[in-house]
Amino acid sequence: MRKPIIAANWKMNIGPREAEDFINSFIGQPGKLDSITSQVDVVIAPPFVSIPAAVAALNSSSAVSIAAQNMSDQDSGAYTGEVSSMMLKELYVRYVILGHSERRTLYGETDAIINAKIKKACASNLKPIFCIGETLEEREGGKLESVLRTQITDGLVGVEEKDLKEIVIAYEPVWAIGTGVVASVDQAQEAHAFVRSVVADLYNQEAADKIRIQYGGSMKASNAAELLAQPDIDGGLVGGASLESQSFLDLIKAAVSAG
Ligand code: PGA
Repeated sequence: MRKPIIAANWKMNIGPREAEDFINSFIGQPGKLDSITSQVDVVIAPPFVSIPAAVAALNSSSAVSIAAQNMSDQDSGAYTGEVSSMMLKELYVRYVILGHSERRTLYGETDAIINAKIKKACASNLKPIFCIGETLEEREGGKLESVLRTQITDGLVGVEEKDLKEIVIAYEPVWAIGTGVVASVDQAQEAHAFVRSVVADLYNQEAADKIRIQYGGSMKASNAAELLAQPDIDGGLVGGASLESQSFLDLIKAAVSAG
């Protein structure tokens, strides 16, 4: 039985002051967040500079885990603008989003770079949220499966099965991210089942059965339950609908109802 995992990806939104307000209203909600999080893992990925404020506002509450949105594959040194895994660990960060399509397309991250980051995260005891997904052109050109297979295979080169256990895969069709166009339930389930089959090919069926695969792309409270009711959809990576505490809480409640 895979525990669902819902993660907020704030992208370049919500500075330190707003992060503090968000967390205060989120964990202070009357919706009994603690009882919800026994059923669903809740993760929030603020921008780097907002992480300390978010962690402070959580005040040791274990209801929410903090993620970073990116990370260097290097430990330290002359890498202007980069942040290392150890720096994130010092801030009590537990997860790190790697290979988001915006990192791939806007910042040129290749499968090889993402693979190096995944290995660094695992070596540092950070849990990668490893993002994959096809563009509309690739899907319409019949390349869905080959694109996903390559991203998964090349992203996981040299990753041992013991480390795979710490990894969450986020399947995010690029055409559904921030567009309001959500993949149909059938499209999403089919892609998730395929992703799981690739993991089974690379490792084994047991490892594939254990790995959690999130859906990302215009997920919100109104479509979450239906998506999460699918056998291979184990959570969500949520952009737009995570920027406001009530809408994010509503989505989490929908996830609980689907379970
Ligand atoms: P969205 O973003 O929910 O705004 O589509 C999802 C993501 O990019 O992770």
